[in-house]
Amino acid sequence: MCGIVGAIAQRPVAAILLEGLRRLEYRGYDSAGIAVLDQVGKLNRLRTLGKVARLRDEVAAAPLSGTLGIAHTRWATHGEPAVRNAHPHICRDRCVLVHNGIIENHEELRREQKAAGHHFTSETDTEVVVHAVYDELTAGYPLIEAVRRATARMTGAFALGVIDTQDPEHLVAARQGSPLVIGVGFGEHFIASDVFALLPVTHRFIFLEEGDIAELTRDTVRIWSRDGELVKRPVKESAVAADSAERGEYRHFMLKEIFEQPRAIADTLEGRLAGNRVLPEGFGNTAPDLFAQVKAVTIVACGTSYHAGLVARFWLESLAGLPCTVEVASEYRYRRHVVPESALFVTISQSGETADTLAALRIAKESGYATTLAICNVPESSLVRESDLVLLTHAGPEIGVASTKAFTTQLIALLLLTTALGRYHGLSEAAEARMVALMRSVPSKMEQVLALDDRIATLAEQFVDKQHTLFLGRGEQYPIAMEGALKLKEISYIHAEAYPAGELKHGPLALIDENMPVVAVAPNNALLEKLKSNLEEVRARGGQLFVFADFAVPLTEESGVTVIRLPETDDLIDPLIFTIPMQLLAYHVAVLKGTDVDQPRNLAKSVTVE
Ligand code: G6P
Repeated sequence: MCGIVGAIAQRPVAAILLEGLRRLEYRGYDSAGIAVLDQVGKLNRLRTLGKVARLRDEVAAAPLSGTLGIAHTRWATHGEPAVRNAHPHICRDRCVLVHNGIIENHEELRREQKAAGHHFTSETDTEVVVHAVYDELTAGYPLIEAVRRATARMTGAFALGVIDTQDPEHLVAARQGSPLVIGVGFGEHFIASDVFALLPVTHRFIFLEEGDIAELTRDTVRIWSRDGELVKRPVKESAVAADSAERGEYRHFMLKEIFEQPRAIADTLEGRLAGNRVLPEGFGNTAPDLFAQVKAVTIVACGTSYHAGLVARFWLESLAGLPCTVEVASEYRYRRHVVPESALFVTISQSGETADTLAALRIAKESGYATTLAICNVPESSLVRESDLVLLTHAGPEIGVASTKAFTTQLIALLLLTTALGRYHGLSEAAEARMVALMRSVPSKMEQVLALDDRIATLAEQFVDKQHTLFLGRGEQYPIAMEGALKLKEISYIHAEAYPAGELKHGPLALIDENMPVVAVAPNNALLEKLKSNLEEVRARGGQLFVFADFAVPLTEESGVTVIRLPETDDLIDPLIFTIPMQLLAYHVAVLKGTDVDQPRNLAKSVTVE
């Protein structure tokens, strides 16, 4: 999704803005732009289609000097990816702005503004904002007031950075529905879509709240709340290291993040276990009392996080004995639902800013859920701030668009939740101790699976020329098959479908031939015999089978059947272990195909608009 960076400083800002954009690349974008106000009050803007590196080259060829500027990476929503649609947008050399979000009433405003004589140069929804602010400036309002008055007419979601070229002493920022932070420096201030963008220049941040408008000078920050009151927001020190968003020796962020999983799981368990027990207080001080009363669980999430929720449903129902429903947020938010009695509403999100998940949470809070819990990787995110209880996954920054370590840390967090809830719903102490021991064993088991990297890289060669793939699983491995299929389609652009293996003969079997590889996730569990019959159905029709199975599974390699052996584990943690080869397979197929692994086409890391 779009990324914003802005700076008002005593030193030149172009390089800071470009580095900020580079650090926001992971969010996904198709064009980029920068505008800097120079010493004589002239605004210079450069915009390019494609990568930030290209914009950087253009800036190198035509340097932008100045100490006040804004920059943007755009992920197209209204209007195709094109230079004319890239931000910053300018109105009559006076007002310039960058925007993340969607202005829902842009058509109506556009009609009015056209009638009033404004000339439009793009198809974006954003352009109505820059004209609206311009109108207020020319009516005599100072920038902060002009932005307040203009945004009061906008419906939808926005984060904005705005400059008035006649006022080189101010940078104005506004946040409603899209994330925005202020970076606090010495004699300089910054804005950005997230903290990573600004880590090279500051570690001190103010997190704007919904409806806030901020006025930055080089020395001051003033913030007004949604009600127009001047408010103080705390300055927080970020613990994220500046190099945590670097790729290091790895060829791609995704590979680095796959290999970081054992550490990320250990970090997520850290402080949440005491001896043989899970500490429910890890979810918040009030969690023990609240958990004791929970009688049902509703989980809502998007994308990979939704798959984590689907796995959790098996755990919550079979181990904690709690009825559980799981739904994608974009569906949940637009239907009427029956809220179960004493129900816990759980959102799962890597970023904590996914618009649909956030909207679902807000609806749930109004609809009578006993309490809300966010499982999230970003401590300062909206989801975390708006939930009653929180369990942070400690995956560290995830930069690759295809989620990997965020997923497995969500799974371990959901196992912690299952155990914590189970305690109040009949899970014995012995069972809890066993679960804790298994959770502790995950990092070392993961290390063993990661050692299969070379083998899976070779296997990937058999997928490169394929158009379609089928992934099969049963029980809690069905969501893992879904996640495997999602990874493959996201980064290799090969069409991949996941099916619960028992559904094979109800349709997908018709697709099976030698050009359709079938990947099966086959741990040695109660459903193995059933799964083996399903695999026979594939083999009998000439399908190419690739089976990921643990050593205990009695399966032999033969023509058309490749078996990839994984270490023996336990049913409980199998989903975490079997995910890794799926990730590696997708990664290596994408590398062989030469796609942009970390920033796949058309996708965004953090989907902050509907
Ligand atoms: C986007 C990302 C996915 C992610 C999904 C949900 O589609 O590309 O990787 O799973 O959003 O994001 P969240 O931050 O809420 O987990």
